[in-house]
Amino acid sequence: MESTERTEQRKTVLSGIQPTSRLTLGNYLGALKNFVAMQEEFDSFYMVADMHAITVRQEAAELRRRSVETAALFMACGIDPEKSTLFIQSSVPEHVMLTWVLNCNTYMGELNRMTQFKDKSARHADNINAGLFTYPVLMAADILLYQAHLIPVGADQKQHVELTRDLAERFNKLYGNTFVVPEPYIPKVGARIMSLQEPENKMSKSDPNPNGYIAMLDDPDTIVRKIKRAVTDCEECISPDRCCPGVYNLLTIYSACSGKTLEEAAGELEGQGYGVLKARTADAVVSVLEPIQKEYARILQDKRYLNDTLVNGAEKAQRRARRTVSKVYHKVGFDSVKR
Ligand code: TYM
Repeated sequence: MESTERTEQRKTVLSGIQPTSRLTLGNYLGALKNFVAMQEEFDSFYMVADMHAITVRQEAAELRRRSVETAALFMACGIDPEKSTLFIQSSVPEHVMLTWVLNCNTYMGELNRMTQFKDKSARHADNINAGLFTYPVLMAADILLYQAHLIPVGADQKQHVELTRDLAERFNKLYGNTFVVPEPYIPKVGARIMSLQEPENKMSKSDPNPNGYIAMLDDPDTIVRKIKRAVTDCEECISPDRCCPGVYNLLTIYSACSGKTLEEAAGELEGQGYGVLKARTADAVVSVLEPIQKEYARILQDKRYLNDTLVNGAEKAQRRARRTVSKVYHKVGFDSVKR
């Protein structure tokens, strides 16, 4: 009872990551790193967004495996199931229950404006399914179900959180106060890590060129090699201004992985060649990722513990989600039959 009361007083944080394929350094610096920091202060819900993943074709056995592996990676980064609620989205059916109601309160025009829909439908022109279009509504349901106040995400998800705010406000106005209106939490450094090969594009796990991204599970040699090959797009200029996107990206990665501010990192490297920038960046990335990789391998060995953790997480998440769904179903008139 005591601990429930304590939980209720803290603000709530929710976020998620798709288990589509290997997570990248971008996912870590833009999102996961903050998940870990925020669990100390907030009542935190972190999920593996497997339902979002099927907007693009997935092989079932592979999705199942990756979902559990992604949860293991969350834990390896420091998500502590005693402090946070860690779960797999599809194990809490309330996400779908709320999605339908929100779908009926979302305008086509709002979804048409989503830049990620435009990008993804261009990349998957043979499979522009309705799920891809309504995906931001599922994401809004993920957030509103837990009455989350803060949503740690990278810059590319900001538009989706803004839509969530609009939906929450619209629903609250129509049906009376129901949802907390959430705020995005976007880190100052690392919110948009760019491709190492095409620094004008985001670093992405779906990049067909593996030299463009650093996977969180890349071994140290691969990390060093990829950073050595990174595009540096102008003459020696190491500066916290964004004058050269490729160099700025490396500086950002160095800063985020070493804990130094951008200015400190630039000051330290001023007057040195790009070789030094790349070597320091590679060292900093390896020293962040190597311990995570070791912990990941250890956690994966204990499949039973991992499964038990996810069962507990699903139960805890569902208890919270159910409360919101009951409230919403009552407000819209879905509780006509009393059992
Ligand atoms: P996803 O799986 O594409 O990415 C997970 C998180 O990683 C961030 N991210 C990046 N940050 C910095 N630089 C990059 N290059 C980079 N690439 C990815 C993303 O911004 C994101 O925070 N729809 C979401 C998952 C989701 C979710 C939610 C998030 C589902 N439900 C509810 C928050 C709340 C997505 O596809 O993220």
